[in-house]
Amino acid sequence: MLRPSYPIRTERLTLRPFTEGDFADLHALTGDPDVVRYLYWDVHDEEMTRDSLKNRIAQDALTAEGQWLVLAMDLDGRVIGQVVLKWESALSRQGELGFVLHPGFQGKGYAREASEAMLRLGFEDLGLHRICGKCDTRNVPSWQLLSRLGMRREAHFVEDELFKGEFGDQYVYAMLDREWRARQTSST
Ligand SMILES: CC(C)(COP(=O)(O)OP(=O)(O)OC[C@H]1O[C@@H](n2cnc3c(N)ncnc32)[C@H](O)[C@@H]1OP(=O)(O)O)[C@@H](O)C(=O)NCCC(=O)NCCS
Repeated sequence: MLRPSYPIRTERLTLRPFTEGDFADLHALTGDPDVVRYLYWDVHDEEMTRDSLKNRIAQDALTAEGQWLVLAMDLDGRVIGQVVLKWESALSRQGELGFVLHPGFQGKGYAREASEAMLRLGFEDLGLHRICGKCDTRNVPSWQLLSRLGMRREAHFVEDELFKGEFGDQYVYAMLDREWRARQTSST
């Protein structure tokens, strides 16, 4: 069970649950074809974004396995992206990390900063044993970020699913709790 105390501050960002007032910023993400290219959703119209905002607002804690924690990446009052943590298995203490950043804010280390905070929540507060990240092999910024976070490439699945009309390949990256702890020690 994980009920973070908000807001979560990183060096430059505030991580917090989504609110009603985030509609325009969220729609800038969900309505952008470049952003959703390798995501499981398609470009949203305003109604779809309103529905998905409602869902996100409720995803502020992990109370049972299978749930996603979805947090807004707030930079000086503007939501520039979202970062997510799935509680995959309570028994095996497994989780999954995900991230989405507005193109205007990519290439500045914001996704990495938010992801480190989510890994900390997952390993140190929820007590996970392993956190993975999955992405299309063509999504270079995504797997480069997973690698920069210190995750290991564990799998390359070849055409394992029909994705947006074509078979795509998928990388699976992961990190263990002891590897997370070792990284924290070596960076201090
Ligand atoms: C995946 C995604 C979040 C990666 O974003 P990103 O901005 O490249 O990732 P980071 O936050 O780690 O930033 C890294 C870049 O910022 C640069 N950077 C600049 N200032 C930095 C700082 N202070 N700290 C760290 N990196 C910094 C790094 O050098 C790196 O640039 P490079 O890729 O040219 O080497 C982004 O491409 C995205 O949202 N894509 C669309 C949605 C998506 O596909 N999500 C993943 C689905 S699996």
